[in-house]
Amino acid sequence: MPTLLITGANRGIGLEFTRLFASDGWRVHACCRHPEKAGDLKALNGDIELHRLDVTNGLQVSSLARQLAGEGIDILLNNAGAYGPRSGFGETDFDSWQPVFEVNSFAPLRMAERFVEHVVASDLKQIVNISSQMGSMARNASGGAYIYRASKAALNSLCKSLALDLAAQGITVVMFHPGWVRTDMGGKEADISAAESAVGMRKVIAGLTAADNGRFFNYDGEQIPW
Ligand SMILES: NC(=O)c1ccc[n+]([C@@H]2O[C@H](COP(=O)([O-])OP(=O)(O)OC[C@H]3O[C@@H](n4cnc5c(N)ncnc54)[C@H](OP(=O)(O)O)[C@@H]3O)[C@@H](O)[C@H]2O)c1
Repeated sequence: MPTLLITGANRGIGLEFTRLFASDGWRVHACCRHPEKAGDLKALNGDIELHRLDVTNGLQVSSLARQLAGEGIDILLNNAGAYGPRSGFGETDFDSWQPVFEVNSFAPLRMAERFVEHVVASDLKQIVNISSQMGSMARNASGGAYIYRASKAALNSLCKSLALDLAAQGITVVMFHPGWVRTDMGGKEADISAAESAVGMRKVIAGLTAADNGRFFNYDGEQIPW
């Protein structure tokens, strides 16, 4: 069966993705910062191997890549994300800027650099990045959220280059807006459940072809403008 490696697998959308792929029979490398506290993740059935991974820790990322050397990873799913402080204009906490960028923007690129050989060695060769339409200039109708928006816009920019750079190796790189999702990040008032979001993206992922390389999708398959 194919193999998935996912970050931020312990809760929210990452947990639902893990449940979904594992129940489809995939082998899942489920990464999270604190496996000892990941009760919901440990309760899932299937071929799931837990790994301790703070995506901002370059040594941990390299060490996991070495540990899995020689194993094909069909989908590298960069899901872990952080919102940072919810502050408006005039209240920006500049000290929070870098930590949010480290998770949302730097980490997916580092993961791609460290795991590219694993992806190349697989059948599907896909890198999926959970972005947000908050990173879209065209969809910004409400302003604010300076740090989060900028971090996801940076992710989209990085992934567009990744898509172009890795195409020659047969890799398809895509970005998703998962919808406004009822998780710790999205809040209770959000539109859809984490399960609905993951099921939607799973369907789109299953239909991806090389022609989709570099595209930015909504969870329902609609393409999102930059
Ligand atoms: N919910 C929404 O409405 C929404 C909308 C657009 C985009 N997104 C994106 O969707 C993705 C998943 O979000 P979610 O809604 O499921 O959020 P969530 O429930 O807040 O979960 C965030 C996940 O990211 C992990 N994480 C944060 N920092 C990390 C780090 N340094 N290393 C490893 N893992 C880290 C968290 O781990 P811990 O438990 O250890 O903190 C947790 O597993 C994110 O990229 C988010 O930006 C969400």
